[in-house]
Amino acid sequence: MGIHEDVKDYYGRRVQKTEDLVLNMCVTPAQPLPKYIRDVLNVVHEEVSSKYYGCGLVIPECLENCWILDLGSGSGRDCYMLSKLVGEQGHVTGIDMTQEQIQVAQKFIEYHTQLFGFSKPNVEFLQGYIEKLSDAGLKDNSFDIIISNCVINLSPDKKAVLKEAYRVLKDGGEMYFSDVYADCILPEAIRTHKVLWGECLGGALWWKDLFRIAEEVGFSAPRLATAKRIPVTNAELKKVVGDFQFVSATYRLFKIPASCPKDKCCVTYNGSIRGFKEKLKFDVNYTFNEGEAVTVDGEMAAILQGSRFARAFSIKPAGKVAPCSGEDPSTKSKVKADETYRGALGLCPH
Ligand SMILES: C[S@@+](CC[C@H](N)C(=O)[O-])C[C@H]1O[C@@H](n2cnc3c(N)ncnc32)[C@H](O)[C@@H]1O
Repeated sequence: MGIHEDVKDYYGRRVQKTEDLVLNMCVTPAQPLPKYIRDVLNVVHEEVSSKYYGCGLVIPECLENCWILDLGSGSGRDCYMLSKLVGEQGHVTGIDMTQEQIQVAQKFIEYHTQLFGFSKPNVEFLQGYIEKLSDAGLKDNSFDIIISNCVINLSPDKKAVLKEAYRVLKDGGEMYFSDVYADCILPEAIRTHKVLWGECLGGALWWKDLFRIAEEVGFSAPRLATAKRIPVTNAELKKVVGDFQFVSATYRLFKIPASCPKDKCCVTYNGSIRGFKEKLKFDVNYTFNEGEAVTVDGEMAAILQGSRFARAFSIKPAGKVAPCSGEDPSTKSKVKADETYRGALGLCPH
């Protein structure tokens, strides 16, 4: 069987609920969940939640009215949470190749529509491959946000996945996704091990390859939101994995509009994003405090200017605004970003 068939077998038949996974990477998120997310998580139907196999939290900020696509949506837990958070005028599409997963997800559309008090469903589930979104009828420039939770590692063609994601995102759109990464390119013994592949380790990208592929496809450089080490506790799997290290990381990639200049800017957050009145932690380098002017690098300025975050910031050319702290926090904290990542991975320097 090919990789797709093996993975369908793993998530369609072999694994029936979260506890059936050999590794328990789904259990603890890298950061405590904010209350508004806990509230919505707690009301998702139990059968849907019991088949959750993700490795991170894929709920970005600023979601009202957004159109969202979930790559490898499984039983639909993240889609239902997002369905509530985007509101009735927003929309969520989940795509997954495994029929058994899609069936569970579809079974609870009406339940959640009523629970959230919507007059009609704002969520749909399609059966299809994330490497070929066009076969599922997904059009160019049609989504504000793409999320994905522990899926891209399972794909035999990661570049095709990112290319398709880039195509269907609108200009200014964001891909916000959690996945598993390795500290090196993995050897064949790990890559061809069916349980390790099914458990999301065998197909893990070397994290530097993600940066390369993202650039080749046209995305902004990946911005690390969170990272957490994945310990391989199972003795049998540990023997095969040896000293290789794995991390579950959440990255944000943006499709920056060509019209956005990439000039250093002075930006001030206005505190208007739900749940983040006082501060917005954008990634490991940038935390924006309400009302505080800070200088940001050219790419960050283009991201803020060209995306759904534009309405939450005042953005002015750097050097022309007082008071601006003058110093780009990322120049101070780039080291910190590296340390965060290496700390999570326990990496040797490459
Ligand atoms: C580890 S589970 C995660 C499911 C879901 N994101 C969650 O958090 O519960 C991986 C899911 O990705 C789906 N999947 C893996 N490779 C895929 C591909 N190439 N195309 C579509 N779906 C895929 C599997 O069918 C499975 O449902």
